Amino acid sequence: EMEPEERHFQEKVDADIRIEPRDWMPEGYKKTLIRQIGQHAHSEIVGQLPEGNWITRAPTLERKMILLAKVQDEAGHGLYLYCAAETLGISRDEMTEMLLSGKMKYSSIFNYPTLTWADIGAVGWLVDGAAIMNQVPLQRTSYGPYSRAMIRICKEESFHQRQGYDIMMKMAKGSEAQKRMAQDALNRFWYPSLMMFGPSDANSVHSEQSMAWKIKINTNDELRQKFVDQTVPQAEYLGLTIPDETLKWNEEKGGYDFAEPDWDEFFDVLKGAGPVNNDRLEARRKAWDDGAWVREGLLAHAEKKRASKVA
Ligand code: ACO
Repeated sequence: EMEPEERHFQEKVDADIRIEPRDWMPEGYKKTLIRQIGQHAHSEIVGQLPEGNWITRAPTLERKMILLAKVQDEAGHGLYLYCAAETLGISRDEMTEMLLSGKMKYSSIFNYPTLTWADIGAVGWLVDGAAIMNQVPLQRTSYGPYSRAMIRICKEESFHQRQGYDIMMKMAKGSEAQKRMAQDALNRFWYPSLMMFGPSDANSVHSEQSMAWKIKINTNDELRQKFVDQTVPQAEYLGLTIPDETLKWNEEKGGYDFAEPDWDEFFDVLKGAGPVNNDRLEARRKAWDDGAWVREGLLAHAEKKRASKVA
């Protein structure tokens, strides 16, 4: 039996009325949102690292400017999302401390290195492609500040996906060596991209409750299927081969049958044992420590201004 305030809350959710920061909400709803939005924000910030790695080595000035703008967009996405989470009563500093101490996660995908320029194409095409697939439905998520952040983020994310596909087109239609690099990038990023949607529905702890609260709109497997169905023709257009021999169109379900990623690898990456987990956290820790004097300076300045107003 639900308490009246909880019933009222659920009725609003069911009627697609947004929940706003001052509205009553169950503790579990708030906790789940902080976890998901915070994890999402951290992912945007950590996600700058694999691409930032290539800014100085982009092959042309134009590619450098595009990549620079894209990486800046990711920083902006992280900031909108931290702000959305802050409306739930947690601060950005607290979330950052939790990331650095391992109490909060970021997306598994960013624990894989970007080894060649073609990887930057694959990240835009597949990683941002998977991100959009997950984020478009989240524009209708029940929590107002999160849904509004998603609307803006999705607009920029589609530009990111296109720039990645554009790099892949150049590489795939280029010299034999470029084509080999493009195929190699697809080979390495395919399964990690499928993992971005989270564990299979049978192993997804939060899906059922999160969907009842409309924090999530689709299950992990639904979105993974949509992503595969969208991406296979794109790979065909590029003349590249998805590294899955079992991949096959299934007329009856109107989608592709495909191989599951290696879930042991996924859970290892979540535990911190991915190829570059340590480097990523080390980079975040260094940025946080190096920025301490700026935060302290801003605080001291704010204090001074407040004191002079009182005087
Ligand atoms: N990477 C890291 N952790 C993951 C991932 C992933 N790809 N997928 C699932 N997990 C974690 C969950 O956080 C959860 O762990 P926790 O309880 O310790 O938090 C556990 O695995 C079980 O998974 P689910 O119960 O399915 O978790 P959830 O309902 O949160 O679904 C999902 C996962 C789909 C990623 C959801 O959180 C979501 O939609 N998040 C918003 C989108 C997002 O974070 N995108 C970031 C990458 S895109 C980008 O930044 C460019």
